[in-house]
Amino acid sequence: MSRIAVFPGSFDPMTNAHLDVARRAATLFDGLVVGVLNNTKKQPIFAIDERVGLIRASVADLGDHVRVEAFDGLTVEFARRSGASFVVRGLRAVSDFEAELQMAHTNRKLAPEIDTAFLMSALEFGYLSSTLAKEVAQFGGEIDGMVPPPVASALRERFAAG
Ligand code: PNS
Repeated sequence: MSRIAVFPGSFDPMTNAHLDVARRAATLFDGLVVGVLNNTKKQPIFAIDERVGLIRASVADLGDHVRVEAFDGLTVEFARRSGASFVVRGLRAVSDFEAELQMAHTNRKLAPEIDTAFLMSALEFGYLSSTLAKEVAQFGGEIDGMVPPPVASALRERFAAG
């Protein structure tokens, strides 16, 4: 039996905390689909195709069993379409827990056959968020340790363009 997981998120943009979770999940599951939510309610800095492209470039060394796809709608429906029986999420700190617990229970209610697996974020990335990386980049701060190299280049370009 092959174990497939989806790793859903907004990824606007992918950070090193996300990449660390993807890297570790790639060793735990036979297949991993990073799902990039095309959330029409949020105004992302990177368009959906850009986010997918940046993640593909960032996870290229993780193996052929790792794919990156955009999705709309419910995460559990995306998981079902992907043949996944797990949703993977990273937990950085206690502050993440409440929202993640609520999401995990909601997803379980909607799709009892799909379970959520949490990976604790690496200690060195516990402070990181996409929002923080964007803010540092916007004001010209050093982002190299915060985001994968393709994302760092894209952020610099974006904010250099103004
Ligand atoms: O990176 P994020 O923004 O914390 O990811 C949140 C995400 C995309 C996992 C969550 O908002 C989500 O699953 N959205 C899809 C809609 C859905 O399935 N909602 C019900 C479960 S909360």
